[in-house]
Amino acid sequence: MNKILLGVSVLLLLGLTTVFLVEKQNNGLRAEVDEFQAWMHKYGFKFADEVQLQYRRSIFYQNKDLVEQLNSENNGTFHTLNAFAIYTKDEFNQLFKGYQKRQKSHLIYSLKGDVAPSIDWRQKNAVTPVKNQGQCGSCWAFSTVGGLEGAYAIATGNLTSFSEQQIVDCSKANAGCNGGDLPPAYKYVVQNGIETEADYPYKGVNQKCAYDASKVVFKPKSFVQVTPNSPDQLAIALNKEPVPICIEADQKAFQFYTSGIISSGCGTNLDHCVLAVGYDADSWIVKNSWGASWGENGYVRIARTTAKGPGVCGIYEEPVYPIY
Ligand SMILES: *[C@@H]1O[C@H](CO)[C@@H](O)[C@H](O)[C@H]1NC(C)=O
Ligand SMILES: *[C@@H]1O[C@H](CO)[C@@H](O)[C@H](O)[C@H]1NC(C)=O
Repeated sequence: MNKILLGVSVLLLLGLTTVFLVEKQNNGLRAEVDEFQAWMHKYGFKFADEVQLQYRRSIFYQNKDLVEQLNSENNGTFHTLNAFAIYTKDEFNQLFKGYQKRQKSHLIYSLKGDVAPSIDWRQKNAVTPVKNQGQCGSCWAFSTVGGLEGAYAIATGNLTSFSEQQIVDCSKANAGCNGGDLPPAYKYVVQNGIETEADYPYKGVNQKCAYDASKVVFKPKSFVQVTPNSPDQLAIALNKEPVPICIEADQKAFQFYTSGIISSGCGTNLDHCVLAVGYDADSWIVKNSWGASWGENGYVRIARTTAKGPGVCGIYEEPVYPIY
């Protein structure tokens, strides 16, 4: 009996090994001739049927042309067929952002303070690892939470990941995965406080609010709306802590951005919120919420201009940050 079982197992093992080797060879061959298959493998994409697969393949190759054109423009940025390579521009703009303008409060602060030549809050342990909002228009919640994590880390020395999902579900002045804005999100957190990511994990869908006051770890005293359209004001704010901002990210500069400094090609009509975490002489360093495979390990650099006005991609239009 045991011998028979052993025999069967050995045969099975041999069979599987052969199948595996043949598969491996096939994949290897296909990857050489078909960039799209290689991309699917890299990003773990599967499609429901052949029609879907061929449709996405055609978009992929259109995007390949676009990426090559963008790279040939030599504008200081490099673009690749990243995780967004199977989406049309319109799909991309619907799925992965989520800024929705809300009424501003009238409390705009004019900040005073020193401006260091450069600053990077990542080096001061005030920025959590890059997150991924997925197919949910919750950029505004990630931006808000990035500001809270920074303020809390600087005040307490404790860098902890906070809950975007709580804000998506419970900040009723905003619209969850359908979009939102920073000031109403901060109003909610000032009133209710924020739980940790571990206690209220991100799901990337609209859910019923499951807020638990006993689990709140940080309740900011207030928040600051920085004087808009001023590079100096953003720099002063960034000398205090990481600063949530919003930008326009629906134009060609963003979808396939992989490295470099964006200085044009993005517009100034805000549609996406992110987190400024520092600057150097030439650029603002910005944390995005599209995962670490996008951009410079999840980050983008945007040109640091000195003229008053919206700035590149509208980066000076709406800085907001919480007060511990
Ligand atoms: C940091 O804060 C979190 C949330 O309150 C807590 O669970 C953790 O124990 C704290 N870590 C340290 C080192 O104090
Ligand atoms: C590159 O520069 C040209 C000319 O200023 C501009 O039309 C184009 O949009 C820019 N492309 C990107 C990707 O920034």
